Amino acid sequence: MKIVVFISGRGSNLKALLDDENGYKVSHVICNKREAKGLQLAQNRGVTNTYIDWSNSKQAESIASTVIEEETPGLIVLAGFMRILSTEFTAKYKNKIINIHPSLLPDYPGLNTHQRVLDDNKSMHGASVHFVDGLLDHGQVISQTHIKVQPNDTATSLANKLISKEHKLLTHTVGLIANQQLNWENNSLHYTGKPLEAPLVI
Ligand code: GAR
Repeated sequence: MKIVVFISGRGSNLKALLDDENGYKVSHVICNKREAKGLQLAQNRGVTNTYIDWSNSKQAESIASTVIEEETPGLIVLAGFMRILSTEFTAKYKNKIINIHPSLLPDYPGLNTHQRVLDDNKSMHGASVHFVDGLLDHGQVISQTHIKVQPNDTATSLANKLISKEHKLLTHTVGLIANQQLNWENNSLHYTGKPLEAPLVI
């Protein structure tokens, strides 16, 4: 299965996908930051890539659509893509766009998730992969990974602990979709043939 990956920055989740490619192939990278390390990584790995200036999001989405129509990917993966896609765009690719977010959604959409978890004295934290609709970090949650919050944790220590688990969560989830173990049937998500009632824990 071909996947198109959208990024905005460092690209460590993109690197995890490129290093895994279990049943899927990163066919194109779209990036809205010219100086992003992830864009450099795509270039170094010989992955076709497009920088899109997102200051006019309507125009940007139209360029992104053209890339997608040319690539015809089975899945679009937002891996640290820090722009909100419009409802028109997400409806056009319904159940085809997934996002990874560093919180146990529906809790803590948006930025600074690690600090907000600490401020609320939460004992558990984690990351989620979900289908994308037109709202911020919103849509059906597919899979999650958890970490315990320790008394001496800081936002940085939580981010460092979580990122390697994010890589496993994302590559594993994309692999399951690519290998048709996770799919949509009768308007609901199925895992190995059975309806998935709660997010898959990875
Ligand atoms: C990751 O932690 C990802 O979960 C987060 O951005 C980071 C990107 O890191 N995404 C969001 O916050 C989306 N709302 P990376 O560029 O090293 O993959």
